[in-house]
Amino acid sequence: MEKKWWHNSVVYQIYPRSFQDTDGDGIGDLKGIIQHLDYLENLGIDAIWLSPVYQSPNDDNGYDISDYEAIMKEFGSMEDMECLISEGKNRGIKIIMDLVVNHTSDEHAWFVESRKNKENKYRDYYVWRDAVNGEVPNGLRSTFSGTAWEFDETTGQYFLHLFSKRQPDLNWENQKVRQEIYDMMNFWIDKGVGGFRMDVIDLISKVPDKEITGNGPKIHEYLQEMNSATFGGKDLMTVGETWGATPEIAKLYSNPERKELSMIFQFEHVGLDQEHGEGKDKWDLRPLNVPELKQVLSKWQVSLGNDGWNSLFWNNHDLPRIVSRWGNDTIYHEKSAKLFAILLHMMKGTPYIYQGEEIGMTNYPISDISEAEDIETINMYNERLALGFAKETLIESINAKGRDNARTPMQWDNSTNAGFTTGTPWLHVNPNAKEINVKKNLENPDSIFYTYKKLITLRKQHDLIVWGEYELLTDTPNEIFAYKRIFNGETWLVAANISTEPHSLYIPTSVKETIISNYDISEISSGTFQLRPYEAFVIRIL
Ligand code: NOJ
Repeated sequence: MEKKWWHNSVVYQIYPRSFQDTDGDGIGDLKGIIQHLDYLENLGIDAIWLSPVYQSPNDDNGYDISDYEAIMKEFGSMEDMECLISEGKNRGIKIIMDLVVNHTSDEHAWFVESRKNKENKYRDYYVWRDAVNGEVPNGLRSTFSGTAWEFDETTGQYFLHLFSKRQPDLNWENQKVRQEIYDMMNFWIDKGVGGFRMDVIDLISKVPDKEITGNGPKIHEYLQEMNSATFGGKDLMTVGETWGATPEIAKLYSNPERKELSMIFQFEHVGLDQEHGEGKDKWDLRPLNVPELKQVLSKWQVSLGNDGWNSLFWNNHDLPRIVSRWGNDTIYHEKSAKLFAILLHMMKGTPYIYQGEEIGMTNYPISDISEAEDIETINMYNERLALGFAKETLIESINAKGRDNARTPMQWDNSTNAGFTTGTPWLHVNPNAKEINVKKNLENPDSIFYTYKKLITLRKQHDLIVWGEYELLTDTPNEIFAYKRIFNGETWLVAANISTEPHSLYIPTSVKETIISNYDISEISSGTFQLRPYEAFVIRIL
């Protein structure tokens, strides 16, 4: 595979609304990001995936865009954006824009026109259908609960929205729509961005009448067209959000020879702590089974081979915090945060760090729905309440999976509002900011931050991490996730005990060197080694 800059890069995701406020309105902004570029340079990351900063009425916090070529007022100006791109460049940090083109906001000029009348030249930019027997056209459902069809009085037809009813789906069948999107992408490429993260990109080619939405028939045709009309041949990184990908599908998206995307986000591991089956979704909880995690991640590690590229992540702005989710955010907070860092960053692929993960930020439990901000959470709560679910069960699900968990403001220091804002924060600050914050992490050479920093440095220094073979150790206790990376005659062993109990691992060969660990393991040698709760290490073996 031809080597590209993103193969040994680490990407840091910023959710601008919650990163740093500089003007006291309680909402993060672009100047706030610029202010912390030195911090990110110190961490060692290569690129920032910037969640949407475009003009938006914020029905879904920026994932509902009303103008792709304007900046959201709360976040600043186009000048600030240009400054962020160039200040990033000065520090070797590229800006990856969030491309949200499955849908727009209902306030986008195209939709404002489209809904005016059936003859409007923008009518076909969206998906309109007649009622069937006086009802919605069919059974398609919105990810944010309820039907995916909204009736529009003006023209007496329904429009499709796979997310909120204020996020109408674009009609990618329309060549004019595709051209508008490509022109917009080129606008950003000309500004010097480093690439695109593509929001729910596997939904753009759909056949609504047959209720086909994911990985539709023309998806690869569209992406190849997009590639050649925009970023193709320009050394830009692209990562597609594809909830429905299997390894076979992932290869179609990310095999360089097919000229589509650099890589995709697959979500198979993300679904391991939920029930599956008819009517079940992420809110139907079940505990993680570690052997399943090993099996799923290992499958993805080995199956792409040279025909695709993995992205590696535990967290993003839609997911609960990993240390609270599968780690332990009380007594083993520091150990388990480091464990998940080591386990992931030794794998093959491009790692992503979500803001605050590098200091072990945790979930923020709520006790009442009035504390929730997120549209997905609120809609689900109302829908399930009406269906008869108990409030306590719903709050439990929200605390485990709700998207606000990841969106609480970044914890910079132990001052009021964690140093995020001098005003009133748009979402509650986690009170544990007194203990868990950037300042404290930077002052302690043994902090979670420095584990992340070291892992990033190791990736730059060792081709083994980037290109080595992956091999799962199968003869281990259920709780121990251990694998080898092998490259040019060198072997590293990565071991992690995902539990609060000690478990033993047999190390067959002699140990040459400890690369990184979250406990002191100066004594390690071949033979049986007992890993303590949430212990993780990487050793070079013979
Ligand atoms: C996926 C994004 O990550 C999520 O935050 C958003 O709500 C949906 N796509 C809709 O854009």
